[in-house]
Amino acid sequence: MSRALHCLAFLPEGSHKAISRREFLKQRRPMAIERTFSILKPDATRRNLTGAINALIEAAGLRIVAQKRVLMTRAQAETFYAVHKARPFFGELVETMTSGPVVVQVLEGEDAIRKYRDVLGATDPAKAADGTVRKKFALSVGENSAHGSDGPETAAVEIAQFFAGNEIVG
Ligand code: CMP
Repeated sequence: MSRALHCLAFLPEGSHKAISRREFLKQRRPMAIERTFSILKPDATRRNLTGAINALIEAAGLRIVAQKRVLMTRAQAETFYAVHKARPFFGELVETMTSGPVVVQVLEGEDAIRKYRDVLGATDPAKAADGTVRKKFALSVGENSAHGSDGPETAAVEIAQFFAGNEIVG
């Protein structure tokens, strides 16, 4: 047998198949522990949904390693959503995010960025899958209950906007 095919992958049903050494090592590699940034938005805090959303976060295996309730200033909201500055909904977005308290969070876990976006569901609640935060709780695309970072670089920048390193306890 060639060196490339000397590993066996054991399948759930008890059978197995030969796979390459490279694929074998890839499958054994644990996923990286990541951090992502979350905001429970004013529409969620107004309806007392912090605990309900946190329950979905924790049920997905994510750990809330930092959390605080704050009233975002206009400047903070404009900085946070600067990437959307040219969009027609930017003004409405800033108004919405400063209309009441938000809960900012750092979530930690394997593949946390993708996992949390799965927990949230599609940005537009009309397109969100059953069981997701947006499907269960969102009122509209603007009042969609929660935000999650879309990638590792964004997560690092977003976390740093609201938390000092010593406020995050993993
Ligand atoms: P969020 O994940 O916080 O990232 C950017 C936000 O902009 C998004 O969730 C929505 O709440 C908001 N948004 C996106 N598209 C629209 C839209 N067409 N109208 C109003 N708000 C929007």
